[in-house]
Amino acid sequence: MSIREILTTLDYGPAPEDASAVRGWLAARDGWGQFIDGAFTAHDPARAIAVENPATGEVIAAVTAADAAELDRAVAAATRALPGWQALGPTGRARFLYALARAVQKRERFLSVLETIDNGKPIRESRDIDIPLVARHFYHHAGWAAALPAMFPGMEPVGVCAQVIPWNFPLLMLAWKVAPALAAGNTVVLKPAEQTPLTALAFAEICAEIGLPAGVLNIVTGAGETGAALVSHPGIAKVAFTGSTEVGRAIRRATAGQGKSLTLELGGKSPFIVFASADLDAAVEGVVDGIWFNGGQVCCAGSRLLVQEPLAERFQARLAARLAGLRVGDPLDKSTDIGAIVSAEQLSRINGLLNIGRAEGAVIHQSGPVPEGGHFCAPGFVTGAATASTLQTVEIFGPIATLTTFRTPDEAVELANNTAYGLAASIWAQDIDTAMDAAAKVKAGVVWINGTNLFDAAAPFGGMRESGFGREGGAEGMLAYLRRPGADDVADDGAEAGPVDLSPAPAPASGMRGNDAPALDRTIKLFIGGRQVRADGGASYALRGPQGVFGAAALGGRKDIRNAVEAARKAAGWSSQAGHNRAQVLWFMAENMDQRRETLARALALTGTPDAEAEIAASIDRLGLIAGLADKLAGRVQSTRARHLTVSLAEPWGVMGLACPHRQPLLSMVTMIGAAIAMGNRVVCIPDPRQAWLAADLAQLCDSSDVPGGVVNLVTGDSAALAEVLALHDDVDALWHQGAPGLTARLEAAAAGNLKPVIRHAVADWAMDPAALLALIAAGQQVKTIWVPYGA
Ligand code: NAI
Repeated sequence: MSIREILTTLDYGPAPEDASAVRGWLAARDGWGQFIDGAFTAHDPARAIAVENPATGEVIAAVTAADAAELDRAVAAATRALPGWQALGPTGRARFLYALARAVQKRERFLSVLETIDNGKPIRESRDIDIPLVARHFYHHAGWAAALPAMFPGMEPVGVCAQVIPWNFPLLMLAWKVAPALAAGNTVVLKPAEQTPLTALAFAEICAEIGLPAGVLNIVTGAGETGAALVSHPGIAKVAFTGSTEVGRAIRRATAGQGKSLTLELGGKSPFIVFASADLDAAVEGVVDGIWFNGGQVCCAGSRLLVQEPLAERFQARLAARLAGLRVGDPLDKSTDIGAIVSAEQLSRINGLLNIGRAEGAVIHQSGPVPEGGHFCAPGFVTGAATASTLQTVEIFGPIATLTTFRTPDEAVELANNTAYGLAASIWAQDIDTAMDAAAKVKAGVVWINGTNLFDAAAPFGGMRESGFGREGGAEGMLAYLRRPGADDVADDGAEAGPVDLSPAPAPASGMRGNDAPALDRTIKLFIGGRQVRADGGASYALRGPQGVFGAAALGGRKDIRNAVEAARKAAGWSSQAGHNRAQVLWFMAENMDQRRETLARALALTGTPDAEAEIAASIDRLGLIAGLADKLAGRVQSTRARHLTVSLAEPWGVMGLACPHRQPLLSMVTMIGAAIAMGNRVVCIPDPRQAWLAADLAQLCDSSDVPGGVVNLVTGDSAALAEVLALHDDVDALWHQGAPGLTARLEAAAAGNLKPVIRHAVADWAMDPAALLALIAAGQQVKTIWVPYGA
C-alpha cells in the first residue's frame, strides 16, 4: 500500500473518553431534590423529571420538579443569606469565587464528561471550551468581587436574583449568571433547564464542598412552570434569563410592574458575512465553529451565511467538502465533531423546520447518515431559501445554516439586518475598510471580525432588538447586578401633583388671561420633525396653573406619536455624527438657554414651579456638562484573549421614547433629552402635560440651536396613554420614563412586543451628583462588542 493510499483510506479509530467516574456518580443516587440553604432536599419520585443521555436515549438520572413550597424555601434561604454574604466584604467574597474557580478546574475532566453525557455535545467542546470558560468566569469575577469598591463606588447589590438558563451550555450559562451575581454581593436561586440539570447539581456539590455559606446559591430544578413561578416570586429583586425569545417575552409580561430588574439574553439569527476578499479556508473553517459548533444549538450561531458573489461558487464547493469530512457520532469520542441534539423534541423541531423549508423550495445539503439510537441530526446548509422564507427567518437551533449570495457591501448589510434579532455577526474580509464598515452597520450586540463564537468573561455579551437587552461579562455585566442606593425608591412622581385635567380650554374670550400670561388664543403646538404642528384632529386641552387657565396645548394622540417616531427615524444622521459635533450643538443649546432665562422663568411661573431661577441655572449647567460628556463616553477596551482587540462601543439605541416627570420640569426634561441625544439617540419626548408651555420654549431652543429636525420631537397630551403608544411601537428602540409603578406595569407589558428595554431611574432630586448623572447617561447607550484580530 502506498503512502498516498494509506493516507486516503486512514480513518479515525475510536477514542472514547473514560466516563466511569461520572457513571459511578450517577449510579450513587436514585434521584435529586433541590439544593436549598446549603443542602439537598429529598427526591420526590411523584414529581420526577427523567434526565436522558441524548446520544443514547438512556435515562441517566431523575430530578424533582420544585413545588411552590420549595421555591418559597429557596427564596427565603437566599434572602436570609444576603446580609452575611454582603458582610463578608469584597475580599471575603472574592476568596469564595476563587475557590469555586479552582474547584471547577480540578474537576474539569469530570464536569466535561458529565456535560457531554447530559447534553450530547462533543467532549472536545465541553473539555476545551465550556468548562475552561466556566473556570475563567469565576476567576474573572473573583477579581470583580475584590475590585467592587474601586470600580463601582457607591453601588450596592440588587438582592435575591432569580436566574433561569437553557440547555445549550448548561454549566457555562450557570457561570455567566452566578459569577457576577455573587461577585456583586447578591444571592441566587437558579433553575437549570429541565433537559440538562446535572452539571448544575454537581456544581451545588462543589459549593457545599468549598463551604460557600448556606443559601448564597440555591438550585431548583423543574420545567417551564417552575421557571415561571420563580421569576414572578415576590422575594426576587432581579431576573436574569437566557433562552428563547418567546419565553423572554412571557417573562417580560409576567414580571411587568413587579419592580424587578430584568436582563434577557434571547435568540438570534446571526449573519456570517463572507466578503470577496476573505481568506476562503479561514472562512469555511469559521462556518464549522459558527453553525456546526454545539450542533448549531448556540444563540449566536452564524446561521445565515451571506457570501459575496465572486467567491460564492468556490465557497460552496469548499464548504460541501468540509461538511463531508465532519464526524457525527458518539459525543464521548474525542474525534467526534458533531454530537447529539439535546432532546427528541428539539430534533423533531429542527426536522419540522427543514421539512417546511423543503416545501418552500429550499435545497438542503446535509452530510451522510447519522448514528441510530440517539437524537442525531446531520449537519448541513441550505441554498435557494427566499429571504422571507421560514429557514431564513426562524431560529433553527440546529446544525443547519442558510447560504445566500450578495453583490455589494450595502446589500450584505441590508440582508444581515433583515431580521428582528440582533445578537451577533461574524464578518470575514481581508480588507479592513470593508470589514470595519460592515461592523459599524450591522445591528448586533457582538461582532467578530475574521472569527466567530469567541467568548470571554471580560467581553460583554448580549443582544439588540428582539435578542434581548442587558449584557453579561465585563464591567457592563457587573452593572446588571448592582444598583445605586435610593434609585427607584421614589414611588410616584405624578401623584404629588395630582391628576392632570386634559379638558379643552374654555372658548377664547378677550381679556381672559392668567397672571402675566399671553393671550389664551395661543395654542401650543406639537414639535415634530423640526416643525410646529397641530395635533391630529386639532384637539387641544387647557393649560392650568395656580392663576387659572393660561393657555391651551395640542392634545397629541396615537397618530401624532407615529408621525414623531417616523420623523425621529428619518433623523438617523444624528446617530452617526461624531460625539464632538453633538457636543457643539448641546453647548449651543446651553448658551441659548442662558439667553432665554426670562422666557423660561415666565413659563415656569405659569405652572407655579418653585425655585425657577435655580432650576434654570442648574439646567444651563446640566446642558453644558452633558455637552462636555458627549464625546467622552464611547466605550472601553476589554482585556480578553491574547492577539485580540476586544472593544465595547457605546452605541445609541436609535429612537428613544422619553416620558418626562412632573418634578423639576425644566431640569428633568433637559437632562433626559440632553443625555439621550448626546449619546446619539433621536427622541420622542412626552413632556408633563402641565408643562406644554415650557416644552414649546424648549422646541424653540432646539430650533435656534441647530438641533436637526426630527432629533427632538415633543408630543403633549395624556402622557401615560402616549407613553403606552410609544411602548407598543415597533420602531421605538428604548423607552425611558419616571412614572408611577402602575404606569411601569403597563409600559413594561406593552414593551414586550419588540422587547425594547423600559428604563426607569426614579429620580428624587434632578440636581443629582455627577456619578448619578453618568448612570443616567448610560441609559442612552447599548454596548456593541467587537472582536478584531490584533497582533500576530
Ligand atoms: P426555553 O426558552 O423554553 O427554555 C429555556 C429555559 O427557560 C429553561 O430553563 C426552561 O425551563 C425555562 N422556561 C420555559 N418557560 C418558562 C417560563 N414561562 N418562565 C420562566 N422560565 C421558563 O427554550 P426551549 O423550549 O428549551 O427551546 C425552544 C427554542 O428556544 C429552541 O429551539 C431555540 O430556538 C430557542 N432557545 C434559545 C436559546 C438561546 O440561548 N438563545 C437557548 C435555548 C433555546
